[in-house]
Order: sequence, then structure tokens, then C-alpha cells
Amino acid sequence: MGALPVFSPIRSIAGVALCALALSGCGSSLGQSGGGKSGGDVKIGLLVPLSGVYAPLGQDMRNGFQLYLDQHGGKLGGRTVKVVTADEGEGPQTGVPAAQKLVTQDQVTTVVGVVNSATALGLRDFFDEAKKPLIIANAGADAITGARKSRYIWRTSFSNGKVSGALGPTVAKEVKGRVYLIAPDYAAGKEMVAGFRKTFEAAGGKVAGEKYTPFGTTQDFQPYLSAIRGSGAKAVYTFYSGAEAVNFVKQYKQFGLTGKVPLYGPGFLTEGGVLAAQGQAAVGVKTSLHYSTELDNPRNKEFVDAYRKKTAKPPTVFAVQAYDAAAVLDKALASGTGGDELVKALGGVGTIDSPRGQWTFDGDHNVQQKYYLREVKANGGTYVNAIIGDLG
Ligand code: PHB
Repeated sequence: MGALPVFSPIRSIAGVALCALALSGCGSSLGQSGGGKSGGDVKIGLLVPLSGVYAPLGQDMRNGFQLYLDQHGGKLGGRTVKVVTADEGEGPQTGVPAAQKLVTQDQVTTVVGVVNSATALGLRDFFDEAKKPLIIANAGADAITGARKSRYIWRTSFSNGKVSGALGPTVAKEVKGRVYLIAPDYAAGKEMVAGFRKTFEAAGGKVAGEKYTPFGTTQDFQPYLSAIRGSGAKAVYTFYSGAEAVNFVKQYKQFGLTGKVPLYGPGFLTEGGVLAAQGQAAVGVKTSLHYSTELDNPRNKEFVDAYRKKTAKPPTVFAVQAYDAAAVLDKALASGTGGDELVKALGGVGTIDSPRGQWTFDGDHNVQQKYYLREVKANGGTYVNAIIGDLG
């Protein structure tokens, strides 16, 4: 809980914004432009990074959400949607005020998005106290669907402990020797390593070393790669995403570790535009994730085609998570737009027929889903995350 001091000033900003909300007299009818059981308009806030290391993820989420709207006549639950986008930036310092603006000024009915776990943790009390539904379409902070779960917060993505823990037993089995753990120094980095370490050690795995790199500012990984080599590790487990994932994987190859010390991680490490930028350096990297463009089901094929048509790029897990957030709202908004009506309806959406396969919300508002073992393979000039196994 070393990160707590970061959140306390934000909590007080959240308190001020809540007072503003109460003073405005808008109460629980905020943003219910359509109101009632059906018809009318609805304003939805999309809070994603448009700047910083996770900006590419934010773009994918915008595309995924918009694709669902395009395919459904711009409506969710029979209501015409107006999307108001705000920049989450690199964390709570920017993400929390941006979310507050969406709720208090723009008066949206619900907010969708949030990439960064620290942003999600910083937003938790604001949404809980405002009684506004927040649909997290990426950030995996474990407490959000655990110790700090809220009636008003739902997640269409994953939790850090689950996506990372899925890979532990496989690495323990495949690697004969100790494994080095490295990740960015913030909530998600710590939780991904902890989640992996738990199942890895339970399966007999041994750790060679553990390091956290400054988040968002580390460009040169050479000193860390040197430490990895010096540790004698037989493999590395890492969580990086966005621009950091590109740098880490490319420098891993430049440093001569690729092909000698196998690299493992959650699938964000080799996803979408990141994988295209890493190119050959990523071949052989094995990851756990709940999605791949290579998933062989008709729903995914149709989705990949539609997404490519719209964006000229392959989709990513980030696009799918936002697409599914729209699918969830399509069901729930049919029942009403008030915070309490909406969260009650979210509890009854049932099975979501997603490109990742069918999933449901569990009792903690997290996604109950399958995880896959993926390996990066060259595929005629491009690179894909081939599915090589099922992780349960
Ligand atoms: C997170 O901060 O929870 C996070 C960020 C980027 C990812 C996955 C998780 O790709």
C-alpha cells in the first residue's frame, strides 16, 4: 500500500467535486437526458488515455466502443448515444479530474474506459459516493473487484491477479531454473508480479530477482537488462504495455537476451500496434491473455473483419474490452439511465457473446472468462499471437 499517499490528495479533490455535484442540485437525475425505460438520448463519458505511454491503448478502446455503436445505429438500449471523450493521461493526476469533469460538467449517465490501475483506484470513492456507474474496460487493479468493490463499479476486462496468475504453472513447468520478475513501479506492475509469483511458486518455481522500473519515464532498459543477465536467470516474466512494451522487448533483443532467456508476461506485452512495432524482436514471447485475433470462432472472425475495415488495423484486447462495455450497456440501458436502475440492470445482463468467447459477470462485477497461452509467431511479414494452449 506504498502508493496510498498518491491517492489521498485525489480523494480530497473527489470530495470537492462531489460537493459541487450536490450543490448543483442535479442529484441522481444528472445526465439522464433520455430518462424513462426506453427511447431518448444518453450521454456516455469515454475516459481513455489520449496522451502518454498508454495512448495507443486508448485509441484502440475508442475504436472498439465506436465500432459497436456503428454496428447498432449509434444506439445503446434503444437510446441515441452521444459520446464525450476525456483524456485519462498517464494516471490519477490527470485521470481523476477528467472523470470528475465528465460527471459534474458534462453530466454523463455513465463513464466507460480507464486503462491504468492507479487511475481506477483513485476514482473508486468518487463513483461510489456519486452513485454513478463506472464500467472499467481495462484497468486490472485487484481491489476494484475485491476488497474495495462498489455497487457502482463494473469491469469488462480482467483483474491483474487473474491474468498474470494464469501463466505461473506453465512457466514453472517449462523453465528449468530461476525466473527474473520485472515490471513498472505502479499498482498494475506490482499486482501482475505478485499474481504471477503466487501461482508460479505454488507450482515449484523459483525467483532469481525482482525489479520495478520508474513508470512512464524509463526509456533505457540497459541497466535492468544487465542486472537480469548478472542474475543468471533462465527466463524473465514481465508486465509492460504500450510504449514501454515496445522499448523493453526491442532492447531485450538488442541486448542479446532474445532466444537465450525466454520472455513471458501477460499478453499486453505483445498486443496490436505494440507487436507491429516490436516485429521480429517479439517472436517466441509467450503470454497469457483472454483474447487473440487468432481465436477461432465465428464471432471473432466477424469482429476482426469489421474492425480491420474500420481502422485498417487488427483489433486488440483493449478494443474488445471496450466493445464489450458497449454490449453490456446496450442490454442494461434498456432498463433506465438512473445510477441505481443501471447498476441493477448490469447485474442482470447475463451472458455476453464476445469476440473473446462468451463471458458473464461474477458476483464481484469482474469478468468470468477463459485465459489462453499465446506465442508470437511470424506470419508472412506480420506477427501474430498464435494460440498454443488453454490456461483455464
Ligand atoms: C493497468 O494499469 O491496470 C494496466 C495497464 C495497461 C495494461 C494492462 C493493465 O495493458
